[in-house]
Order: sequence, then structure tokens, then C-alpha cells
Amino acid sequence: MSDAANTNLTLRDEICEYWSMRAETFDLQPGHEIFSNSERGVWHELIARHFQKTKGNNVLDLACGTGVITHLLDDLGFEATGIDWSEAMLAKAREKAKIRKRSITFLQGDAEETREPDETYDGLITRHLVWTLVDPQKAFQHWFKLLKPGGILLIIDGDFVTKNILEKALNFAIRKFTTASPAHSDVMRDRHQHILSQVYFSHGAKADEVKQLLTAAGFSDIEVQSDMSAIHREQAKAVGFLKSLSRRSQHRYAIRATKAE
Ligand SMILES: C[S@@+](CC[C@H](N)C(=O)[O-])C[C@H]1O[C@@H](n2cnc3c(N)ncnc32)[C@H](O)[C@@H]1O
Repeated sequence: MSDAANTNLTLRDEICEYWSMRAETFDLQPGHEIFSNSERGVWHELIARHFQKTKGNNVLDLACGTGVITHLLDDLGFEATGIDWSEAMLAKAREKAKIRKRSITFLQGDAEETREPDETYDGLITRHLVWTLVDPQKAFQHWFKLLKPGGILLIIDGDFVTKNILEKALNFAIRKFTTASPAHSDVMRDRHQHILSQVYFSHGAKADEVKQLLTAAGFSDIEVQSDMSAIHREQAKAVGFLKSLSRRSQHRYAIRATKAE
């Protein structure tokens, strides 16, 4: 068991509570929910490109939050299931599915240990979970088992910790010239920092390090896509110039990994 896993109980509770507090306003933020068909289109392209070799349709969205990615999977014709441990997030996901008349299954559970049977899924996808995993080694081993032979894992994430000079300057300008959303109040910022200081990737989740852990868990044929410009371009229309520049200066990526047949 890694050192991080020793602190599991309280840290996990803290993470779940933090996201539950964010649930009410999560979808109001561009970068989370999608507000244009053109942005939806680039997300569809990203997912379809990486999942083009899936052998079947059964895909699990790990830490689905309000179900943004789960809905994209459903759009593309996958049999999509979302799992998250925050009931507040899941309530939003289920509400949206009802409004949009989608039959998507949302499960409450821990993405690091889903309790789903081995070899259940043709595909696994997760956006913005890996940076906050308590025990990524164990989680990746579990995800490997969850996939059927030939199954594909797609991780969409980034290093949100390491900040170059440009990003530091942009963040300063954003704080000075824009109004902070409730999600970025001082209290929420402190909670976020407290969580970040304890997780495995407290130094930031770099694609190379994630790739190494995936290899150690048994994954192969790993591709790191670090050009996320199509998505940045679309999100820029909603997030504004400063935030868009800040996002572009971050190390954001998609990683596809396969469980060999
Ligand atoms: C940044 S949000 C991302 C939500 C969604 N993946 C998206 O991209 O819109 C992080 C989500 O991960 C969930 N989460 C974090 N760790 C988790 C875990 N170990 N098991 C289940 N859910 C988890 C939180 O509850 C929250 O909904």
C-alpha cells in the first residue's frame, strides 16, 4: 500500500465533501459543462478518435460528476454508465439525463475501487479525476481489471499545480480584473489547497508520470495527446481571453491506454 493510501479515510471524505459543495454551481462554469454545439463537436471528435478501436459499446465514466462526459458518450451511441461518490453531483447528472430524455445509468461509488466485476467494460473514460486520486497505482490496477481484453482507457487531465511565469501573471490578472465565482472563494480555495497538499499528485499530474504508472499496471500501446488546442479554441469563446490563455499555458492532455488481448 502506498503512503497516500494510509490517509485514505479522511482524505477521501474531504474530497467527496469538497465536490459535493461544488455540485450546485459546477455546470455553470465553462470548462465543465458545454455551452455550444461547436465545443460539443470537438469533444465528440476527441472521444471518437481514441475509442475508435473499442470492441464493444459498454463504457464507464469514472468520477462522472454532473455527467458531462457521460452525455457525450451517450451522444456517440455508447452504452454509457457514470460513477461518482458524490450524491450531490449524481443528482445533477440524473436530473440532466431526465430533462434530455437519456437513459444513462449513474452509480454511486468510489472510482478507485468501483466494486464492478472484472472484465465488464470495453472502455473507461475519466476527465479531471487523476490529479486528485488518492492511490493512483491501485486505481490503475483496478481499472486494468475492469476492462475486457482489448479494452481502452482514456484519461483527460492535466498538471494544474506547476505554474510557469505566464500562468502566474495571468492568474494575478484574472484575480484582479474578474469577479471570483463561489467555487473560487477564499474558503473553497483553502479547502482545495488542503486536499491538493495530501494527494499523490500534489506536485501536479504530469503525463509522463501517469504513463509510467499505467505501464506498471499492465497497460500498453499508450498514446499521449498533448495538443488540446481544438478544445481550448472552443472553450475560449465561453471562458474569456485571460482564462483561455491561462488554460493554454497549462500542461493538459489526453492519454489513451489499452489492455492487450
Ligand atoms: C473535477 S470533477 C470532474 C467531473 C467530471 N469528470 C467532469 O469532467 O465534468 C471531479 C469529480 O470527481 C469525483 N471524485 C473524485 N474522486 C473520486 C473517487 N475516488 N470516486 C468517485 N468520484 C470521485 C468528485 O466527486 C467530482 O464529481
